[in-house]
Amino acid sequence: MSTTRKKPPLPDEKAVRAFRRKILDFYRKHGRHDLPFRLTTDPYQILVAEIMLQQTQVERVLGKYEEWIERWPDVYSLAGATARQVLTAWSGLGYNRRALNLYQTAREVVLEYDGLMPETPEELQELPGIGPYTAHAVAIFAFNAPTVTIDANIRRVLLHEFNWPADTSDTELYELAELLLPPKRSRDWHNALMDYSRLALPRRMDHIPPKSRQSQFEGSVRQVRGEIVRRLTTRSYTTVDAVARAMDCPTDKVHTAARALEREGTVALTGNRIKLSGE
Ligand code: ADE
Repeated sequence: MSTTRKKPPLPDEKAVRAFRRKILDFYRKHGRHDLPFRLTTDPYQILVAEIMLQQTQVERVLGKYEEWIERWPDVYSLAGATARQVLTAWSGLGYNRRALNLYQTAREVVLEYDGLMPETPEELQELPGIGPYTAHAVAIFAFNAPTVTIDANIRRVLLHEFNWPADTSDTELYELAELLLPPKRSRDWHNALMDYSRLALPRRMDHIPPKSRQSQFEGSVRQVRGEIVRRLTTRSYTTVDAVARAMDCPTDKVHTAARALEREGTVALTGNRIKLSGE
């Protein structure tokens, strides 16, 4: 069967204006104007929030974000930290690689950009761990850049409000998002879309509930990776055997996890011994 389908029609000018009004009115009345990362336009602080928000719900990010910013308010202070301090502060947020990328970004910005975060999505994407979503989000929230970005929340709003199919391609969705973007209000607009998605859209009832995080995580290589990094925040090294014993799991699983961490530059593995890379 052919899988081609008609491209969904773009809204006309009147519908665009009505949609902008609806979303921005919602934001004025019900938006979360008090979120700490919305009270700043500092690109480094916004980057920290965006990286934390990629994996964790807003409510759980708030405390971590505020502690982080108090301790390392700018790229200079973060660049002066140690990998161990950074990983310890990140604990509980998961995906340690993201913390190390943030740290590496701070060091590069200090060394290569004189401590000033670059402003364009193109330059931002050159930094470690910053992909297209994050680069555009920083340009938008820090500099009100007239560009668009689409996370899962924004995707859901656009599909829902315009009745577009769930298999809509990114290209089609970006075309719609660009048409809808109100001139000069990129920052408010993106905050508004995210709030509208979280606060105004019906919770989805039509999907199979995911397995609990715990049951997916239990015994996984990801869990072993987490344990390795956790141990390395309190000791100068650990060993494959020690981790296997502590977790009651086969040593080859620990090896696999350690090798994956080594590939992404988090640890160095020498025989049986695992250290934080660069220490
Ligand atoms: N998730 C990612 N970025 C966000 C933001 N700026 N506000 C709320 N939720 C977000």
